[in-house]
This record gives sequence, C-alpha cells and structure tokens, in this order.
Amino acid sequence: MAESPLSQMTIAVLGGTGPQGRGLARRFAAAGLNVVLGSRSAERAEAAAADLAEATGGTVTGADNAGAAARGDLVLLVVPFDGHAELVAELAPVLTDKIVVDCVNPLGFDKQGPFVLDVPEGSAAQQAAALLPASRVVGAFHNVSAVLLEDPAVASIDTDVLVVGEDREACDLVCDLASAIPGVRGVFGGRLRNAGQVEALTANLIAINRRHKIHAGIRITDL
Ligand SMILES: NC(=O)c1ccc[n+]([C@@H]2O[C@H](COP(=O)([O-])OP(=O)(O)OC[C@H]3O[C@@H](n4cnc5c(N)ncnc54)[C@H](OP(=O)(O)O)[C@@H]3O)[C@@H](O)[C@H]2O)c1
Repeated sequence: MAESPLSQMTIAVLGGTGPQGRGLARRFAAAGLNVVLGSRSAERAEAAAADLAEATGGTVTGADNAGAAARGDLVLLVVPFDGHAELVAELAPVLTDKIVVDCVNPLGFDKQGPFVLDVPEGSAAQQAAALLPASRVVGAFHNVSAVLLEDPAVASIDTDVLVVGEDREACDLVCDLASAIPGVRGVFGGRLRNAGQVEALTANLIAINRRHKIHAGIRITDL
C-alpha cells in the first residue's frame, strides 16, 4: 500500500456502525489505511471506531456523518437504501469534488426472499450521482458479504468487486481500494448506467446464501 495514493488519503465510511460499514472499515484499517467512521450519532461512531482501532491496530476515528464526510478524501455510502437519498442530499455541499463510493443495494425482503426495489434514477448509484453533480460518484462493494468482512478468522475473501463509474481515475482508485482487502480484486464493470445490475445481483447472492448456508461472492473469469 505504501506506493498507492490511497496511503495518503482518508477513507470515510458513512453508516460505518452497521455490519457492512464496520466490515469494510476493518479491512481498510488492517491494510494500513486511515479510516473515519460516520454515523447519525458521533458517539456511536466513536465507540465503533475505538473497537476497530483496537482490533486492527490501525487508525480509525469516528464522527457524525457530516464530520466524517468532510474529513474523507474517498467517502463510502454504506447506509440502507431507505435513508440514502436523504443523507446524500443533506451532505451534497460537503461532498463537492470528492470521490463518493456508493455501496447501497436497493433491496426489499418478503416471504419469497430478496427482491430489487424500483429506483426512478435506475440504481442507487445513479440516484447519488443525480443528487451530487459536483462529486465523482463510483459504485462498488455491492456484492461482498459483511459476515466475511467482519470475521477476523477470515484472512482472505475470495471475491471480485465490480466498480462502476464515469470517472476513470476515480474508478481505478476504488479498484485499488478493493484490492487492498486480501483475496479481493477490484474490476472495472462499466459506466454508472450499469450499476443497477450489480446492485440487483446481490438479491441472487442472498438467495444462494440462504439455500446453501454460505457467503457467496463473484469472480470474473479470463481476466
Ligand atoms: N450487510 C451486507 O452483507 C451487505 C453486503 C453488501 C452491501 N450491503 C449494503 O450496505 C448498506 C449497509 O448495509 P448494513 O447491513 O450495514 O445496513 P444497516 O446495518 O441496516 O445500516 C448501516 C448503518 O446505517 C445507518 N442508518 C440506518 N438507517 C439510516 C437512515 N435512515 N439514514 C441514515 N443512516 C442510517 C445506521 O447507523 P447509525 O444509526 O449509527 O447512523 C446503521 O448502523 C446497505 O445499503 C446494503 O444494501 C450490505
């Protein structure tokens, strides 16, 4: 990581008190990256950050979502789809010129299992892009399991992370961020208009997980 520009950056994880945000933050901190967790409650973020700093020996701090977004060079959105648009709209000024990584899957659950919610903009990532015209919005980390990310006994995670976006440099950086997690490879997966399928694929993975009692990931072959 020493030669990557990521080593000079702060990675903010909004919604960083939930399983997915905590899991990603754990892996980034373990890779030696500077991480700040965001939450609607600064106290909750600080408590989760202290736990992760102790567990990883890395640099993890906490703040409210606006404070974490302000400190981040890369800002990950790791909140439920329910609160996504509201949070993004509220933080638009502080996210200006930043790389914003949308990790949100617009999914619902009923008796038949997971299903994809209709998003007027086409996907959660496109919704963020519409609300953040002055930010560099990238979609990533949709298909990686929080259970695996959070499990300290899992040394390496056998999955690719599809990275979608309009900004080549931002996508390359987020591919590097994904690849900082042992076992994971970041792979450019197309422009933002192709984010919907990546988000939706998580419904299939959850169905596979439930059937086989596993934590499935994806791999791109011949690459
Ligand atoms: N869990 C997985 O395995 C997984 C895998 C891939 C992708 N994802 C995606 O990652 C995102 C987070 O997943 P998760 O399982 O960690 O979700 P979660 O636990 O339900 O939510 C994460 C955090 O978001 C904050 N939050 C909750 N409701 C909010 C609202 N209305 N507005 C703003 N913030 C809110 C909460 O933190 P505070 O109360 O501290 O603010 C919560 O701890 C989801 O979009 C999910 O689709 C999850």
